[in-house]
Amino acid sequence: MLKIEENKSLKTFNTFGVNVKANYFTSVASEKEILEILQSKRFGSMDKLILGGGSNILFTKNYEGLVIHYVEKGIRLVEENEKYVIIESSAGEVWNDLVSYCVDNKYYGIENLSLIPGTVGAAPIQNIGAYGVEIKDVFESLSGIDLETGKKRSFKKNECKFDYRNSIFKMELKGKFIITKVILKLHKEKEFNLNYRDLNNYLGKANKEKLTIKKVRDTVDKIRTNKLADPKRFGNAGSFFKNPEVNETTFLDLKRDYEEMVFFKLDRNKYKIPAGFLIEKCGYKGKRVGDVATYNKQALVIINMGKATGEQIKMFSQEIQKAVFDKFGIEIIPEVNIL
Ligand code: FAD
Ligand code: EPU
Repeated sequence: MLKIEENKSLKTFNTFGVNVKANYFTSVASEKEILEILQSKRFGSMDKLILGGGSNILFTKNYEGLVIHYVEKGIRLVEENEKYVIIESSAGEVWNDLVSYCVDNKYYGIENLSLIPGTVGAAPIQNIGAYGVEIKDVFESLSGIDLETGKKRSFKKNECKFDYRNSIFKMELKGKFIITKVILKLHKEKEFNLNYRDLNNYLGKANKEKLTIKKVRDTVDKIRTNKLADPKRFGNAGSFFKNPEVNETTFLDLKRDYEEMVFFKLDRNKYKIPAGFLIEKCGYKGKRVGDVATYNKQALVIINMGKATGEQIKMFSQEIQKAVFDKFGIEIIPEVNIL
């Protein structure tokens, strides 16, 4: 029997710590319960929001519908040979617990994605990434339920349209599909990706024979802890904006003025440049307006210093967008889902 709560505060269900309410709220731990909701007279046709850890959402107002907090846990070894393992995880599993499971078992592939908050089910939504790895690199397939038809459906990797901080689930299927299971393929043979600048600074010279998966995970944890704001101290959702892609002319102009700027060359004369750098150059690093600020160690992270509302955070983010556009002519787009 489903337990539906009314007028539920979402303050502890979003890492910005914004104090909004949902008209209706339920925690769900199986596909069967999802179907029960979809078939119900009262809730079947009501607006629904799927919520995982709330670590990539900014609520600017109360949610006038049903919030479905998906909490089903479970990790299962589906297949194994000498080289690979296939792992299936339920969507409600905490992402970092899945990383721990893989590190403990020496299944290589997601150790660089260590300490990313949130659930396994949300990880494919924006193709989570960090330190040179994205979930798409180890992704096999996922399954779940179409919220409009109530039908089960699976998606193979090429059907997910993975891109930088994007997928079909953040575009055409946004809000229309609930992911309940995710399947990953991980290596059993030692294989590390240490190319990302920060990680390379720590481990580039390490003896690769002796280097362990645990050491890589611990190093990623250390880098992240030094740079990113802990939501338990300051509400935040990680990077607020995506790093912009610019054309060669814009890139060369910037590089002439700021030789020190790091960048990543993409195909087709395109370059990805760090939004945090642009924001800092606009004088916004550590800047505070009321209870909203950018983090003083990472300008790309907007933090709630106490009692900021979602609307105030959104307004501050728009002020930053305008400052970056006015100074550089570059549009920076939010990564966070704003509701
Ligand atoms: P939520 O915030 O609950 O939801 C995000 C979106 O996914 C919403 O639109 C929601 O409706 C939808 N959704 C959630 N679960 C499901 C489901 N089962 N089925 C369908 N839709 C669903 N991200 C990175 O990529 N790399 C990083 O390095 C990184 N670092 C971060 C550091 C901090 C301190 C924080 C707070 C966030 C960081 N993030 C990072 C962002 C965030 O952790 C990820 O986007 C994460 O995958 C969000 O998971 P969640 O369960 O909290 O999703
Ligand atoms: N920088 C500045 N000032 C700042 C912040 C950054 O100059 O205040 C410059 C530095 O030169 C630094 C460069 O930007 O070398 C890149 O910074 P960092 O390595 O911290 O990475 P990022 O581009 O800011 C991205 C992801 C993070 C991810 C890290 C590590 C995006 C939007 N963000 O941040 O993901 O953890 O790389 O891979 O792509 C998230 O998505 O929420 C997130 C935290």
